[in-house]
Amino acid sequence: MVQTGIIMIVGAGQMGKGLAQLAARSGYTVLLNDLPGILEKSFMEIEMELVSRKDLDAEGRQQILEKIKPAASLQEAVHSDYIIEAATENVTIKKQIFTTLSNYITQHTILATNTSSLSITDIASASDCPEKVVGMHFMNPVSSMMVVEIIRGLKTSDHACKVIKELAENLGKEAIEVNDYPGFVSNRLLMPMINEAIICVFDGVADVESVDRIMQLGLRHPLGPLRLADMIGLDACLSIMEILHREFDHPKYRPCPLLRNMVKAGKLGRKSGEGFYLYDN
Ligand SMILES: NC(=O)c1ccc[n+]([C@@H]2O[C@H](COP(=O)([O-])OP(=O)(O)OC[C@H]3O[C@@H](n4cnc5c(N)ncnc54)[C@H](O)[C@@H]3O)[C@@H](O)[C@H]2O)c1
Repeated sequence: MVQTGIIMIVGAGQMGKGLAQLAARSGYTVLLNDLPGILEKSFMEIEMELVSRKDLDAEGRQQILEKIKPAASLQEAVHSDYIIEAATENVTIKKQIFTTLSNYITQHTILATNTSSLSITDIASASDCPEKVVGMHFMNPVSSMMVVEIIRGLKTSDHACKVIKELAENLGKEAIEVNDYPGFVSNRLLMPMINEAIICVFDGVADVESVDRIMQLGLRHPLGPLRLADMIGLDACLSIMEILHREFDHPKYRPCPLLRNMVKAGKLGRKSGEGFYLYDN
């Protein structure tokens, strides 16, 4: 069914670009926001991503592109029914965005954050309307991952949860509600596994390719954990491990020193051209 309504997406990086395409394809009008100077590049990348899709002809591509409009400022939130924040995984940045958005949203607007690991309750506390703030954790790549974690903060209302669940379903995803604890379910399980795979390389148990092949062939993982870490971004993996470590205060979540060093060296995975593997960007 073709949907109507306006979704503002704040942050036009890897996830924001995917969300914009998914929402436009489902019929929503998208207002895409990012910092000055970045939006133009994101629009070019969206166009290139659409061109590479074999299931779209030129007309289909054009229809999607026409539905995604640049929003230079958060003031344009005044036009939106829903807001999905997908900015950098940094609590200060996200809280600033939610504080600013509080000034512009209408009474019916519901706000979602795509954070992978930060507290929804904490992010919501920066807004005037914490009852309207819900976690909406899409997985990467947005177009092909079929589930969205819906995270209820301490003050999230039943109405906001229901609206965001329906939005996830209208975007073709299965919505599963979880409570607001670090890493939710997905990253509480995934990130320690990725960290342990890095420890295997660090300890000399096996090389990168061997660790990945064992998990692919032996456990039927579509990607090995180290290639997956490259895809997610090693900086994002480190930041999630640091949150799990800090919040649970348990050594089992301590980030591997090799992960720390790779991030310090700028080896962030696919986006920087090098992580555990080399990429021709
Ligand atoms: N990468 C993944 O695999 C993945 C998966 C699920 C969820 N997430 C979550 O999605 C969010 C975005 O992740 P990403 O991988 O797309 O990151 P990214 O680094 O690719 O993109 C983040 C974007 O946010 C923009 N930004 C920063 N500050 C901003 C501000 N004040 N206003 C507007 N835009 C701002 C940046 O310019 C950048 O374009 C994070 O919360 C992350 O945890 C990521």
